[in-house]
Amino acid sequence: MVEDQGRVVLVTGGNRGIGAACAAALAASGDRVAVASRGGEAPAGMYGVRLDVTSAEGVDKAFAEVEAELGPVEVLVSNAGITRDTLLLTMSEDAMREVVDTNLLGAYRVAKRAARPMLRMRRGRLIFISSVSAMMGGPGQANYAASKAGLIGFSRSLARELAPRGITSNVVAPGPIHTDMTDALTDAQRDNIVTQVPVRRMGEPEDVAALVVFLASTQASFITGALIPVDGGLGMGH
Ligand SMILES: NC(=O)c1ccc[n+]([C@@H]2O[C@H](COP(=O)([O-])OP(=O)(O)OC[C@H]3O[C@@H](n4cnc5c(N)ncnc54)[C@H](OP(=O)(O)O)[C@@H]3O)[C@@H](O)[C@H]2O)c1
Repeated sequence: MVEDQGRVVLVTGGNRGIGAACAAALAASGDRVAVASRGGEAPAGMYGVRLDVTSAEGVDKAFAEVEAELGPVEVLVSNAGITRDTLLLTMSEDAMREVVDTNLLGAYRVAKRAARPMLRMRRGRLIFISSVSAMMGGPGQANYAASKAGLIGFSRSLARELAPRGITSNVVAPGPIHTDMTDALTDAQRDNIVTQVPVRRMGEPEDVAALVVFLASTQASFITGALIPVDGGLGMGH
């Protein structure tokens, strides 16, 4: 384990979409990046680890593996997330539970496991990927919006608990971003969303990654408990 070769970063769901862009940008800025995914694969130059955020045991095992290979995790990007969109009257308890279990409880599991070593180091960065839907809601997204809004109270509580020990906790709220998640929408749905975005385009994963790199940096040490949009103006007003 080499301590002076950049910080150790762990990105959940780092194998594709926004997580992959965050992993690549953090690696480019000199960090040693562990890409955590259910498949366990990682791009060249990064460390791949198998992790399913719905299992506390699996989370513990993945962190232990990263600690043994790279050292304690100093920056956590909690990005893994799913949608199971449907209107309330057709939303099964299963669809509600599965989304909350991955998006909110998953973030709790990884943050809790990451926090103890960060407390020992007296430094750390917790970055949670929420969504513009957290504050705006969305038809068919009661489960998703609830899980993403939950992250805000969760992160702000951690910010209050952990800031005196050098650990910041912040939420990033992306608007519509080009990834597999939005590829699942129809062209008509995407066009309809874009007309509501003042910037008049979908975002790219790199738009989100640029903010994540800044929040992870030492320059961001006075930013904690924040909710920062990367949404082309879609959610402004909150
Ligand atoms: N795209 C958007 O417009 C948008 C907007 C706002 C917020 N977000 C949020 O940004 C984050 C990334 O979204 P994305 O668009 O990049 O989505 P994506 O392309 O669908 O990727 C989702 C990622 O989450 C991982 N994941 C899902 N369930 C998991 C689990 N149980 N354990 C571990 N990993 C799991 C997936 O891993 P597998 O490969 O194993 O499935 C994948 O890496 C999500 O939290 C999403 O809610 C996205």
